[in-house]
Amino acid sequence: MRLGIISALAEEQHGLIEALESPYKLVHGMREYTGGKLWEIDAVCVLSRIGKVAAAMTASILVEKFGVTHIVFTGVAGSGDKNVKVGDIVVAEELVQHDFDASPLFPQFEIPLTGLSRFATDTALTERLAAAAAQTTRVHRGMIASGDQFIGKLAQIQALKAALPDLLAVEMEGAAVAQVCFELGVPFAVIRTISDNANDDAAVDFMHFIKTVASRYAFDVIERFCKE
Ligand code: ADE
Repeated sequence: MRLGIISALAEEQHGLIEALESPYKLVHGMREYTGGKLWEIDAVCVLSRIGKVAAAMTASILVEKFGVTHIVFTGVAGSGDKNVKVGDIVVAEELVQHDFDASPLFPQFEIPLTGLSRFATDTALTERLAAAAAQTTRVHRGMIASGDQFIGKLAQIQALKAALPDLLAVEMEGAAVAQVCFELGVPFAVIRTISDNANDDAAVDFMHFIKTVASRYAFDVIERFCKE
């Protein structure tokens, strides 16, 4: 097993790179890939930067150039449900690209030629991440939606919730990694700590959260996940 660990921003992966034993670094396509042993696990950590294209590119390179066999995306997200609070963790069971709409050629959200609008995460990885996260905070499992938009208006999140009633969280990368991993046959999981409520306060809450607690959560969960 070689585990690829992706986050969009440095704050979301803080401490993991420092925890890598015998690290080696390689810059490719404007990203720095750091490999090594992470609590006995062969791992490669990388920051994708923000958005679906950035995440898809990073996931593809991890598989094709670094030979990772499994991928975990760890980061923050906006809440997509009233029961999902700031500081809770959402572990994805399915991911949707909420801004994908090729209708009337294909149903809204469906990714042409895959026949799918939702990509399922790997059950074993998801179980283990959820178990590791449950020792840190409250954990929810279900659907996460990704799009190339920061959701920072109440009307935006309400419209998304109306279109996707089982939505738990919104972010900007997970579903892109999901499509790449589906197409390449690589098991993957997505874990997100809620930083904001994707409403009019989202930008301020996001900035505060990312500067304070975001990294601590991710570090604790990934450490437990690797050790167990
Ligand atoms: N990541 C964290 N908060 C988010 C939001 N409100 N919209 C999109 N991505 C996010």
